[in-house]
Amino acid sequence: MMTLCLTAALGAQGQPDWENPAVLGVNKLPYHATLQLPSKEKECPEILSLDGQWRFHWSRNPEERMQDFYREDYDVSQWDWITVPGNWQTQGYGTPIYVNINYPFVKDRPRVTTEPPKNWTAYENRNPVGQYVTFVDVTKEMLTKNLILHFGGVHSAFYVWVNGQKVGYSQNSMSPAEFDVTKYMHAGKNKLAVEVYRWSDGSYLEDQDYWRLSGIFRSVQLWVRPLVHIADYQVTAVPNADYSQFTVNAKIAVCNTGKKTAKNQLVQLLMNCPELYGVNVNPNHRNVTNHLIPKLPAGDTMTVELKFHYATRPRLWTAEKPWLYPFTLQLLGMKDSKNNEEFNYHFGVKKVEIVGEVFKINGKNVKLRGVNRHDHHPKTGRYVDDATYEEDIRLMKQANINFLRTSHYPDREYIYELCDRWGIYVMDEANHETHGYGYANKVMGEDSTFRQAHIDRAEALVKRDVNHPCVILWSLGNEGGVGPNIEAMYNKVRELDATRPPFYDSDRRYSAIWDDSYLYPDELRKNAQQVKDKPFMMREYAHAMGNSVGNLQEYWDVIYADSSICGAAVWDWVDQGLSEELRVKSEEFPSGVPKGSSKGMAAANSTLYTLHSSFLYGGDFGDQPNDGPFCLNGIVAPDRKPHPHYYEVQKVYQPLTFERDSVDGSIRIINRDYFTAVEEYAISYDTLRYGGEVVLNVAASLKEDRPWAKKGFVVAREQFVLEPWTFNLQDVAVSPQASAAKKETCALVVDGNTLTSWIVDGHEVLAAPLEPYFWKPENDNQNAAGFARRTAMWKDLSKVDGITVDYTAIDDHTLRVDVSYQPTDTAGGPRPVIPKFGMRMRLPADYTQIRYYGRGPWENYPDRKRSAFLGVYETTLAEYETEYIHPQDNGNRCDVRWFEIVNSKTENRKLRIDGLQPLCIRAWDYGEEDLQGVRHPQDIKRGRFVNLNIDLNIHGVGGADTWGKRTLPQYTIDGNQPHHYSFILRIE
Ligand code: GAL
Ligand code: MG
Repeated sequence: MMTLCLTAALGAQGQPDWENPAVLGVNKLPYHATLQLPSKEKECPEILSLDGQWRFHWSRNPEERMQDFYREDYDVSQWDWITVPGNWQTQGYGTPIYVNINYPFVKDRPRVTTEPPKNWTAYENRNPVGQYVTFVDVTKEMLTKNLILHFGGVHSAFYVWVNGQKVGYSQNSMSPAEFDVTKYMHAGKNKLAVEVYRWSDGSYLEDQDYWRLSGIFRSVQLWVRPLVHIADYQVTAVPNADYSQFTVNAKIAVCNTGKKTAKNQLVQLLMNCPELYGVNVNPNHRNVTNHLIPKLPAGDTMTVELKFHYATRPRLWTAEKPWLYPFTLQLLGMKDSKNNEEFNYHFGVKKVEIVGEVFKINGKNVKLRGVNRHDHHPKTGRYVDDATYEEDIRLMKQANINFLRTSHYPDREYIYELCDRWGIYVMDEANHETHGYGYANKVMGEDSTFRQAHIDRAEALVKRDVNHPCVILWSLGNEGGVGPNIEAMYNKVRELDATRPPFYDSDRRYSAIWDDSYLYPDELRKNAQQVKDKPFMMREYAHAMGNSVGNLQEYWDVIYADSSICGAAVWDWVDQGLSEELRVKSEEFPSGVPKGSSKGMAAANSTLYTLHSSFLYGGDFGDQPNDGPFCLNGIVAPDRKPHPHYYEVQKVYQPLTFERDSVDGSIRIINRDYFTAVEEYAISYDTLRYGGEVVLNVAASLKEDRPWAKKGFVVAREQFVLEPWTFNLQDVAVSPQASAAKKETCALVVDGNTLTSWIVDGHEVLAAPLEPYFWKPENDNQNAAGFARRTAMWKDLSKVDGITVDYTAIDDHTLRVDVSYQPTDTAGGPRPVIPKFGMRMRLPADYTQIRYYGRGPWENYPDRKRSAFLGVYETTLAEYETEYIHPQDNGNRCDVRWFEIVNSKTENRKLRIDGLQPLCIRAWDYGEEDLQGVRHPQDIKRGRFVNLNIDLNIHGVGGADTWGKRTLPQYTIDGNQPHHYSFILRIE
């Protein structure tokens, strides 16, 4: 038995299927469109879900797998349980590996088991195999039908057996795989066995920058289909040139899986949209078109074409107004009613075109305000449940995002339905990346043994999702090859669907749009001007790693000014951190070998979200090689909590912008959308007075509920300062009593530029001196750009000339501080930028309540503050900080007029800071040094004091990439120029 089985899996050259690029599948049915809308699957009587608890066995490598587990007499009752759908690494088996560019196995295609260095995860666990067993009840009635086993997604390659008989094999892990299992089934209990390989030759095309996870991670279904059934259909709805009429074309493939010729099969399309018809048409006839197939021989497939022409102006589908026309597709066996079947779907009328260098949707130069998204969940890895999909699309719509790139593979079907319904343009991407061979490599672009594998992925993409109105572009993949394999993908996509242009980043000959990603705003302007024959886009920009997304508006000023730039998509949506619970699970099995039998159950029962969970990244599982925190580039955290920069995206992406005429004060509203009028929003304003300052807040909000937000939700907003704050001593209300108080209760000890002691009412205020301090820890962008090294001279100010600090006691509670920097000694050459210009001090740890007047409520920096409006904000020290998964500089607030921090323990003693010009303030319960080399927020040594940085200015966060690009010069502090500022400190 053992030998038999081994030979069965080996190809002619002795390679197993999973190391043979010529074998992409065995007995796999052709790819086809999603037949039933995902949200209506439950209503479809043909679909039986096989999801749930399956028996599971994990081995480190193919040799150690259970050779004959698929046999009917093999007993799995002692095996573990595992949840399907799910990854096995997130359920306690083996090790998640996070790598970006490199393959996690030795690059030796098509082999994936070549011996790696000893410290690699893949050394011990050379190519783990997960073996799954479940039992399916089948009735006699079901056996008269056609039974199709459907796998939504399995990573990366797998075999299927039914009742001990081998059914087939599949790879291409992010697309469905189907097998006709009718002849293997019998009435009663059927054994379904699946053997999944972590890596295969297909993995060479799946080198996406993401956690490398395995298993049956999407749903498994048994389709119980009539013998004659709809195998596939494609519905396109195209408007005419002036959008006054449109045509619906439906191509429906019907196949006969029975043994007899089928007679009189009626294919019928019912349009459930009465508004398309004139009132005079008989309501019983107006909605139907059909085609009779008189004879369909056994084993044959026939494609029927149905056409509707509507002389009615269509309501167009756009992301702004996602109008959908529902339809029902039926197949009616004229005599034999057993053959009847019915699917529900919808179409949208839209036109995507490229006119010269302009990208148009429905004739308009729509701008794609985009984001990239990996299919990620912190607890279930690659399996993302419906609720999380809804949460993602809701948050995207609320952030004014209108474009989603499904980087870098097709997502689960339901997300496309949400985009259809709620309105998001989608670039749907093929499951193809070969970055390990280099960006735009010839190796994989030309290797003809991998040609079919490339084509297969293009075909899987288009065939499944072709009926989703939301899809506007087909992407051939990401960071892949150059050459004939790409050309073949391109041709396949065009052959399958002429209504959406193909896109590709690495071989521009095969892309309708010119992509050049991660540019500075200026480079974007210049490069887009140079490209004359195509629209231009940045498929990725604003690398949102850690504390980031500076200068976003600068990009959009360029994009709106050039009609040939169709948009840009932030990299990326969600931090790909994994829940800490998962480490606990994998630590139970240090060798990666699970013990016991209940691990799968535990995973199934755990809830999806917990509060304050912290998240793991590359290396946290002992995974080798790994790329550390480089998977944390989201604008929302793994639990979907928005980061501060989420709000900046929301603000910069807003469809309306407001400008105020400085002469007559009138507000002009600029509408960046094409299919929505300004009048469709409720416009409101509010004049607020803060001390002497008067600001005007303007908002545009929804007039009615939408699926993604309630009526009143603010879609666009702006703030104007009408009467500016006057920064002078009059504003610092020094109470007469305070000034009159005895001077001897106040004591200052100044040592050079440093205030080492300040005693008020007999208490020392300072937990550490108030001193000039120009240093700040790096954020991830700065770390990648060598910031600390370049600016090292500012770390120790005792060696820097030209700094003077004056301390003046105004009264026994009040102190004025004047800081100036006047560089004199330029012998050492030009000085680097100053990380921040200002002071720092430390207070006792009990100062935890904060109130301030400045920009907020969330963290903001000079290059990322447009979404943070001026206001008086009340918060706590803990909330003032921003907890990045990978600890780094954080928490700044800009344009602070005054700031109060209250000691909640000591009779509400309060420190108030008044700027004599706007201030930047950061407050942490740890010091700069405590961030050094720390991997996780819970490892930061906290709570010994409150660290307060009171600055004139701080270096911007940066906003281009996290591999060398810098903060824009206008958001940096010149080390060669003089600077000075002042503020008042008062203890109340
Ligand atoms: C891009 C790539 C993404 C991701 C990003 C860095 O070039 O397409 O997949 O790796 O870099 O976070
Ligand atoms: Mg890559």
